[in-house]
Amino acid sequence: MKITVVGAGGNVGSAAALAIAQRDFAQEVVAVDLQINRDGRTLDPAKGRALDEWQTAPIHLFDTYLHGTTDYEATAGSDVCVITAGVPRRPGMSRDDLLGTNAGIVKGVAEQLARYSPDTVIIVVSNPLDAMAYVAHRASGLPPERVMGMAGILDTARYRAFLAQELNISPKDIQALILGGHGDTMVPLPRYTTVTGIPVTQLIARDRLDEIIRRTQFGGGEFVEIMGTSAWYAPGAAAAQMVEAIALDQNRILPCSAWVTGQYGLNDLFVGVPVKLGRGGIREILEVELDADEQKLLEASATDVRSSFAALNRLMGL
Ligand code: LAC
Repeated sequence: MKITVVGAGGNVGSAAALAIAQRDFAQEVVAVDLQINRDGRTLDPAKGRALDEWQTAPIHLFDTYLHGTTDYEATAGSDVCVITAGVPRRPGMSRDDLLGTNAGIVKGVAEQLARYSPDTVIIVVSNPLDAMAYVAHRASGLPPERVMGMAGILDTARYRAFLAQELNISPKDIQALILGGHGDTMVPLPRYTTVTGIPVTQLIARDRLDEIIRRTQFGGGEFVEIMGTSAWYAPGAAAAQMVEAIALDQNRILPCSAWVTGQYGLNDLFVGVPVKLGRGGIREILEVELDADEQKLLEASATDVRSSFAALNRLMGL
């Protein structure tokens, strides 16, 4: 199994590369990024980070060989490729503020990946997430089931972590579903949130649950406030879980940004929905029953995603 991570000289990409290697299912992780110039010297962050990560193998006990490169030829024949390339948020920016810069970057990366790995599956992590998944889909020419965005696993992980803290229980025992775009209008679903099958609504008062949902919706922005840039450990770990599900054909049911064709009454956009993830990418989009309020929230979130698609159209004619 060969996995490529683009943007691996940065925080999210290097976290994803290490998390993939630690799962120990791949033979090789190719870490790709640009060289940078600093103080008159040419530096190679992906090469350095991959070397450092590979040297944790005897400690973490994995066999996956990580190496860094600037050359897409080294990615040839990758089973799964992860795109984390692009600029992260700075204070005062929304994910949508990154659209123009990151669309150009993701387009170039997706073209290169598809050129060297025409049968690959692409997972996009760059923001604004749902719009960047669309750019990768169009630029790579890969069928929609082979291109997807990582958001729902990260968003539900945040939600589950907050719930575990609130209830003072193991995060392992919390299952949850979040639909919609990877933005502040994402739709956590308390009706589909359980603690080992017990509806969370029986365990936490509604107003407290609403506060946790709100913190989850702004979970990405919390990091920009605290440290002036976005998160990387949980985004990297979430991407690694998707890579493993595809590489090992696990048929996991995970929330991902997928191209919808009428599910939930939505068409022609990438948006967060529960999918069955296995070899070849998205095997199926699962449709859960929504009540009128939940459907309305999902549609409002889809409207937000559509506005970033419209901006893409103006910028790139996509
Ligand atoms: C976040 C960024 C990665 O939610 O979108 O942290």
